[in-house]
Amino acid sequence: MDFIPINVPAMGEEEKKAALSVIESGLLTDSSYEGGKWVKSFERKMRDLLNVKHVIAVNSGTAALHAALLAAGVGPGDEVLVPSFTFVATANVVLACGAKPVFVDTKGDYNIDPALLRGAMTKRTKAVIPVHLYGYPADMDEIREAATRKSVRVIEDAAESLGAEYRGRQTGSLSEEGCFSMYATKVATSGEGGAVSTDDDELADRVRLVRNHGMVHGYDTRHLGFNYRLPEMAAAIASVQMDRLPQFLKKRASNVKFLRERLTSVPGATFTQDAGDRTHSNYLHTLFLRRNRDKVLAKLNAAGIGAAVYFKTPVHRTPLYAKLGYAKELRQTQSASEHVLSLPVHPKLGEEEMDRVARGFVAAADGLL
Ligand SMILES: Cc1ncc(COP(=O)(O)O)c(C=O)c1O
Repeated sequence: MDFIPINVPAMGEEEKKAALSVIESGLLTDSSYEGGKWVKSFERKMRDLLNVKHVIAVNSGTAALHAALLAAGVGPGDEVLVPSFTFVATANVVLACGAKPVFVDTKGDYNIDPALLRGAMTKRTKAVIPVHLYGYPADMDEIREAATRKSVRVIEDAAESLGAEYRGRQTGSLSEEGCFSMYATKVATSGEGGAVSTDDDELADRVRLVRNHGMVHGYDTRHLGFNYRLPEMAAAIASVQMDRLPQFLKKRASNVKFLRERLTSVPGATFTQDAGDRTHSNYLHTLFLRRNRDKVLAKLNAAGIGAAVYFKTPVHRTPLYAKLGYAKELRQTQSASEHVLSLPVHPKLGEEEMDRVARGFVAAADGLL
């Protein structure tokens, strides 16, 4: 029986054709301030989707976050509010700027709790990074309101939420800067890749500078920068994936609908990301299991179903952050890390496979929840 992975890239003839055309052109990258033909094509499609003024392609979601923070002027002495229930990159980029991550607990939907922001702010707080976890939009209006009162910047980590909407607007377009990842497992991918979106001309200019060693014309470094350029081959694949994104999202949504209908009767397994004012990218379909999460996970994996846990260890509990002295109790974060389980819903899964996932879950959960 074939193993059903949690996420796989959906690549086809169009991606092959675009990648091959880059090889044949000999123009594998473009170190100009604006970037190459395919970088521009990917950026234009992202801009159109997000309805923003600027998109700057970079070579990872991590680079996007780092560039966004540097462009916003985050540096030594600053504090940045972040969730701990996220991928470690969200906090690592704060450290990379010489600033201090301050961890804030999450809500039942696994996103940062806006009610806790005010209490976590100090005179040194420079920014807050809400993460749209699993592709489900955070409470952006409340977050923005708490931040604006204290002149704190909001920078979205939309690495998992490409295509998700909050109150009719795309995630990543709801704050000063939005940061995306095109990593191999994401809803649209170029293997590695990322982007920063913004409506602010000056921030866009600075992100472009960070992308390319702070240079405009070459060897005229005017800002701290790195090589965060997206290669043309990856940009070509990313550009094609943007065309296919609506179909990917539709198929993910229908796979989730199928699962939810089949699993409603399983007691002790709850889906908590379904407020009516926002849509989900369904990057991960995640359930809260009342008990025995690891036993259910082991049974699913043994049955060839690639269920997975994101994230077993909250960032502030990882060895690096423990060494840095983070020991705070974050009750919701801890509980989520002990109870969540994600099931495969990626667009390459047809009805037969989704049926296997549903049956597999019911069987694995039997007597355990
Ligand atoms: C929430 C979150 N933030 C940041 C990143 C970093 O993106 P990348 O792996 O492209 O550097 C990821 C994904 O890997 C992520 O899931």
